[in-house]
Amino acid sequence: MSSVKAVLSTGFQSEGELVKVGSVPYPKINDDQILIKAKSFAVNPTDWKHLTFAEADYIVGSDVSGVVEEVGSKVEGFTKGDVVSSFIRGNVSSAKGAFTEYVIAEQNSTIKYANGSKFSNEGLKPGSYPTSLIDTYEGASSVTLGLCTVALSFVNLGIKFGDESNSTKSILIWSGSTATGVLAIQVAKLVFGLKVITTASPKNHDFLKSLGADAVFDYHDTDVSKQIRDFAGDSIAYALDTISSEYSFQHVYDSTANSSHVAIDNLLGLQPLQIKTDENRKVSYSTTLAYLIWGQDIDLMGTIFKSSTQLVENYNDLFVKILPSYISKLKHSNLRVLNPGLESASEALELLRQNKVSGEKVVFSLN
Ligand SMILES: NC(=O)c1ccc[n+]([C@@H]2O[C@H](COP(=O)([O-])OP(=O)(O)OC[C@H]3O[C@@H](n4cnc5c(N)ncnc54)[C@H](OP(=O)(O)O)[C@@H]3O)[C@@H](O)[C@H]2O)c1
Repeated sequence: MSSVKAVLSTGFQSEGELVKVGSVPYPKINDDQILIKAKSFAVNPTDWKHLTFAEADYIVGSDVSGVVEEVGSKVEGFTKGDVVSSFIRGNVSSAKGAFTEYVIAEQNSTIKYANGSKFSNEGLKPGSYPTSLIDTYEGASSVTLGLCTVALSFVNLGIKFGDESNSTKSILIWSGSTATGVLAIQVAKLVFGLKVITTASPKNHDFLKSLGADAVFDYHDTDVSKQIRDFAGDSIAYALDTISSEYSFQHVYDSTANSSHVAIDNLLGLQPLQIKTDENRKVSYSTTLAYLIWGQDIDLMGTIFKSSTQLVENYNDLFVKILPSYISKLKHSNLRVLNPGLESASEALELLRQNKVSGEKVVFSLN
């Protein structure tokens, strides 16, 4: 096979299609990488955001599931035939991206499924599917970018695995029905034993409680921060703002005002200078960028985000050593399955871009 089909950027110039289906050379892995024969794909906001300024012919996509086709000579823990899902840095080059028939993947952003041999080779029919344990290629494709993000965020927040005091502490997850929030709720509860307080539109409250959230508040309520303060008292030690607008960041800050110290993480490079703060409060701030898990600094629109050996080590300690034993207990989000075929990437990306997705992940299979 000399070439494979792939979803490619068009070099979008403010109108027209974001993507097209084309072909790229059959990919070659290096000694540290894994080649995945793709089965299913999921879209993420980062995909459409990058596509609004990407050059033409970059391979699109960040989330894939499938079967290991080839393993680099230095890779440990994966063999040909394993069922896996992986988070890929797509949308920025003609060499790597998730939405293609054969995908180059890195070890520390790839999950192996012990129950993978039971995944059906028949893709799910187009339609809506409720949250469930991860037992399909579609479900597997929907979780990896999110889990890598949550793992790095919890490292940045300084949450300690196995700390007995976790059961007395709460984490506030702002907007728990986001793809990130759905996974953060479960990891906070199942892996770290924290109490989970979250926000969402009312129609998603029962869904988030079913994932382990102890309390869910409606972020549309004008007094939502007061409601959270009254409920949580001084228990909130950590907060993750999955929306990361100035509005949500301010609300996270205000909701945690009773805490003697709180660590607040956001996902879009927000700084405390962008909100109203009280100099008497003890707050630590961090920003998570999942692309840093591979050890390279990242330039995003002129802002440099720094990685480090220590950051990657701390992330690997959680994602590579601890999380795998919890994968069989984690649920994927509700799924919206589109028609099979790479052609569905365009519809999937537009659904996200037009903010038409609530409490679900949009996925499509290869065929
Ligand atoms: N830095 C990183 O590494 C990283 C990684 C992953 C994601 N992100 C970023 O994080 C953000 C979330 O991504 P995602 O994929 O997790 O989200 P998503 O699944 O696309 O988010 C959809 C959810 O957003 C909620 N929502 C929409 N507008 C809102 C608002 N004004 N206030 C509160 N909630 C609102 C909706 O909740 P309801 O339906 O309940 O109202 C909906 O369920 C994006 O900006 C993404 O680019 C960054």
